[in-house]
This record gives sequence, C-alpha cells and structure tokens, in this order.
Amino acid sequence: MNSRRYHLTTFGCQMNEHDSERIRGVLEESGWLAVDDAELADLLIFNTCSVRESAENRLLGRLGEARRLKNERPERLVALAGCFAQSRQAEIFDELPFLDIAFGPRNIGDLPALVDAAESSAAPVSSFEDTLAHSGELPSRRLDRYRAWVQVMTGCTNFCSYCIVPSVRGPERSRRPADIIDEVKRLVLDGVVEVTLLGQNVNSYGPEISFASLLTDLDAIDGLRRIRFMTSHPKDLSPELIEAIRDLPSVCEHIHLPVQSGSNRVLDRMNRGYTREHYLGLIASLKERVPGIAITTDMIIGFPGEKEEDFYRTMTLAGECRFDGAFTFLYSPRSGTEAAGLTGQIPSGTMKRRMGELIGLTQQTALANNELLLGTAVEVLIEGPSRQGGGQWRGRTRTNKVVNFSAAETGDPPEAGAFAQVNIDSVTSTTLRATQASGHD
Ligand code: SAH
Ligand code: SF4
Ligand code: F3S
Repeated sequence: MNSRRYHLTTFGCQMNEHDSERIRGVLEESGWLAVDDAELADLLIFNTCSVRESAENRLLGRLGEARRLKNERPERLVALAGCFAQSRQAEIFDELPFLDIAFGPRNIGDLPALVDAAESSAAPVSSFEDTLAHSGELPSRRLDRYRAWVQVMTGCTNFCSYCIVPSVRGPERSRRPADIIDEVKRLVLDGVVEVTLLGQNVNSYGPEISFASLLTDLDAIDGLRRIRFMTSHPKDLSPELIEAIRDLPSVCEHIHLPVQSGSNRVLDRMNRGYTREHYLGLIASLKERVPGIAITTDMIIGFPGEKEEDFYRTMTLAGECRFDGAFTFLYSPRSGTEAAGLTGQIPSGTMKRRMGELIGLTQQTALANNELLLGTAVEVLIEGPSRQGGGQWRGRTRTNKVVNFSAAETGDPPEAGAFAQVNIDSVTSTTLRATQASGHD
C-alpha cells in the first residue's frame, strides 16, 4: 500500500459531487489519502462541469494554480475528470499541456489504472469510452455521516436544445431496483437517515418498476427518515408520483421541478416537451394534493430569440407558481448543442435586466411563503453549528429550507445528524430563524 496524497476540487451539480465521492472511494481503496492543501498533494484532480460558461471560466482560473504546482514539482500528477473533460476530449491535452490524465464521468473506475499508466509514461493518458458500468456500483467515500446521495440513473436522452449533458454523460440508463435498495439498506445500517436519489430525470426511471414504486420500496426501509430526489422533469411527472409524495411518510414535501421558461414558443424551441399550461396544471395538482409542499425551479433567461413578451410569460408563470426558490441562469451557448446554432442571441444588458426582475419576483414569493411558517413548529435534521456563529445551529426542514436555531435550555444538546423540533420566530426569503422546542428525539 502506498500512502500518496490527493487533492480533489469539484465543480457543477450534485451528480458531480456524488461522482467525486466515487473518485475518493476508488482512490482511497487503493491507498491514497485526501489532503486539503493542494501544495501537499501528489495528485491534483479537478472534477469539472460544462453546463454553463461561468463554470468553465472558474475552472480555467483554478487550473492556473495547478500548472504552477506542476512546474514546481513535475512528478506531481494533474488529472481532469467530469463533463468539461469529456466535452473537450479531442483538444484537452493540446489546450492544457501540463495535464497528465483526463477521463469522463463514465470512467471513474479506470482511475487507478490511469494513475499507474501516467506514472510510467511521459505521454498523457485518458479514458472516455462509454462503459455500461454504473459508477453507482463503485466504492464511495461520503463526506457526511448521516446523509447520502444515491444514484438511480445515469445519463440523459432528452436533448433539451441548450444542454450539453446528453452528449457528455451519454444515454439515460436506470440502475436495477434491487441494487439501489441494497445500497440504501447498507447506508441506513451505517447511520444514514436521509438519502437524495439522483438522476437527470428521475421521473423516467424504469422500466423494471416506476419511480413511484421505487420510492414505495425505499420508504419501507426501517430507520430511513427522509427521502429526497432530483431532478424531476415536468414532462414525465406522473399522478402516481404526486400520490407517493403525499402518502409515503419518509418522502419529503419538496420538489425541484425546473420549468426553464413560461413561454410556449421558447419551451418548444428548447425541446422541453411540455407547455406552460401543463406545467401550471402540475403545480396546481402538487399544491392541492400535498399541503405545504415547497416547490423550487430552474429558469433560463435570454434563450436565443426570447422576446420581451416571452420573458413576461416567464414572470407571470413565476408569479402564479409562487416558487420557494429558483436558480436563474443566463443562457450561454454550448458547442455541439442544437441551440448553439440558433440566431437571435440576446444582448447581455437585456439578459441582466430580465434576470434582476425575475430574481426580485422569486424572492418576494419565497419570502411570502416563509412568512406563512411564522409561529409554527417544524422538524429539522441538524447539520451542525450555524455558519453565522453565536452558538446557533443549522438544520433543514423536510421542505428543504435552511433553519438557524438556538438550542433549547433543557434536553439533549443539538448534534449533527439528529432531529429537532423548532419554532419559527422570523424569516427571510432564504432562511428561517427558530428556537428549539425541546431536546432532540
Ligand atoms: N437535468 C436537469 C438539470 C440539468 S442542468 C433538468 O433537466 O432539469 C441544470 C440547469 O442548468 C438546467 O435546469 C438549466 O436551467 C441550466 N442550464 C443548462 N444548460 C444551460 C445553458 N446552456 N445555459 C444556461 N443555463 C443552462
Ligand atoms: Fe439537460 Fe434536458 Fe437532460 Fe436536463 S433533461 S440534463 S436540461 S437535456
Ligand atoms: Fe452536472 Fe455540469 Fe455535468 S451541471 S451533469 S457537472 S455539465
């Protein structure tokens, strides 16, 4: 066993965060140790994202430091993983000549062999082919003791016209239900109380069983208190799933349901496969059947050809849905996607003005929703001391809202991974402030 040291930096979505846990898992299984300080590492790995230009720019900034560290100690290895590496596989070693290793999201299992090969060769080494193996079956090194991500599917076959994910992560494939259930049982035995099921479009899970049936099977696992999932796609969200959210005790009352735009013309050009009316119908049905459900979304501003009237359709939709939170993205063309060839790019000043208006509106609805919680008691899963200090603790409601709370004077002191009841005293659009009602259970 060697005890060489690696340093890992992750960009991008939860899928990438979870892939990084697999990267840690395979490396630590072959004797590598994680270090926080890149200067001390023998191997620097960047797990990259390509979904927006801003993610790529941040990465390129960080790679400057990697080049410096490589020059300082040439035997140090630098590896690029993830979606950006996959999308630039043809030119990556020309563009970044200090790189030793590059591999895609489907090739994490190859990493130990790539490291061995890089050590014995002067030329860079890579692995990008589509393997049928799920990274879900690789060893994983979780950063959290009581919360875990579980991959239920990989890839995506939806081809939204702006999106690079299908081309970098390959076609959609579901993991077998038995493998997922086994993994969750093992996690629960290991102390996990909350799982988040991951897939680009969990609603199209199958074909062996539906996603709602998978939730039913997972809900039956003793000791699992909370199940979350993301991302849901509006075109595949079934009435059966809405009922599962309502009826299954461990399935949390929160859904992330990206709408992208409120204009049918834009939705059609985005190839999203649903209309504004369909989306509004889903929201009405979710709110009616699952009282208190929190709904969050993603919206893209400035898709090519987005007119003022299209943007206002997005504004009125957001006003009607009264979202609890929204990630708003400025459109950026990704090469190789259908939308990159569209005319009608929106000037950046217009995009920013629209973004400001949309953010203002979603903050208002989020605040109004949170105000309805004032004076109520809610259950939180404690995450640890609050970043705000002052002896405060931080927890999360079933609806995925962050709560900063002060501990009760009696009962057990708060502890990460435990549950507590708290009374909501004050709110902002993004956080709740509370007082613990009694010691945790
Ligand atoms: N599979 C998920 C999300 C994938 S990417 C889904 O379908 O909802 C996360 C978010 O990034 C998307 O929801 C979208 O809002 C945003 N996004 C993707 N490509 C983009 C691009 N080219 N420009 C701007 N935002 C983009
Ligand atoms: Fe991209 Fe659309 Fe797939 Fe989401 S559903 S990953 S936005 S192609
Ligand atoms: Fe995620 Fe970025 Fe890849 S959002 S799927 S890491 S392109």
